[in-house]
Amino acid sequence: MTQLKVPLRHYLQFSDLSTEEYAYILNRSKILKDKFKAYETWHPLHDRTLAMIFEKHSTRTRLSFEAGMFQLGGHAVYLNTRDTQLGRGEPVEDAAQVISRMTDIIMIRTFGQEILDRFAANSRVPVINGLTNEFHPCQVLADIFTFHELRGSITGKTVTWVGDANNMAYTWLQAAHILNFQFHFSGPVAYPLDMSRVSPDQQKHLQLFLDPREACRGAHLVTTDVWTSMGYEKENQERLAAFKEWIVDEDKMAVAQSDAVFMHCLPAHRGEEVSSGVIDGPQSVVWEEAENRLHVQKALMEFLLCGKFN
Ligand code: CP
Ligand code: NVA
Repeated sequence: MTQLKVPLRHYLQFSDLSTEEYAYILNRSKILKDKFKAYETWHPLHDRTLAMIFEKHSTRTRLSFEAGMFQLGGHAVYLNTRDTQLGRGEPVEDAAQVISRMTDIIMIRTFGQEILDRFAANSRVPVINGLTNEFHPCQVLADIFTFHELRGSITGKTVTWVGDANNMAYTWLQAAHILNFQFHFSGPVAYPLDMSRVSPDQQKHLQLFLDPREACRGAHLVTTDVWTSMGYEKENQERLAAFKEWIVDEDKMAVAQSDAVFMHCLPAHRGEEVSSGVIDGPQSVVWEEAENRLHVQKALMEFLLCGKFN
């Protein structure tokens, strides 16, 4: 068994990697994607185990991490709150101690970011954020890789967010600062960004719009997400009413750049945050975006466990 010797690093927020490290990971994602498409065997994580802990539902995150670990020569174990002692009140610190003694890398999808932080503080191995209430860094990494593939560097471009000030929106804001692009945000006044979570450096990349159509004007990428994220289901009815004007439709896409792309992390609700015409239309890249979760997370796991290859 090869002993992997790299300093312990976690990926809990988008800001946990530098601009230079993102350049490496984006390049590496393309190399790993090409290997996958060519059916080339690449097993740098032979004999390694990924623990995947889910406290919320998932299709894409589970599948992309599990398939990705297998493709890198390792093994993935699926754990959820219902079937483990986590659901019966075992402290997250104790779970981290135990799980990180038996595995080499851990991905967690949970509620508060502080749960993830406490887990990571007690883990001997890298911990990856597979979505929290606050952030979803693996998704934004996939989205940026998708943009790079289709349109080139995102630096200097404009990304428009129409909708809820949720985990995806705050992650995009972190990315705007690190990768140097502009972020237009528009949501109902009753659901604003919490500016205490937006650093002065991030504010330089942020422009707020009352009118979602104006936010889309000139954008290179328009993106949105569900109006009610997991964990906020009780607010669904009032959110449905409040967000009605914040649908990404053909009228809003018409004022973006003519070659603008539309992204959505999925799952989507057609007729709510996005019209069928947009998500199923020619500017939508949502299936590429979903597939790219696989490739970027392989690059991320390889980087956290092996360091750089080129
Ligand atoms: N986009 C995303 O994270 O999808 P899942 O909830 O299906 O994992
Ligand atoms: N903002 C959504 C993303 C789902 C992938 C949620 O947290 O439910």
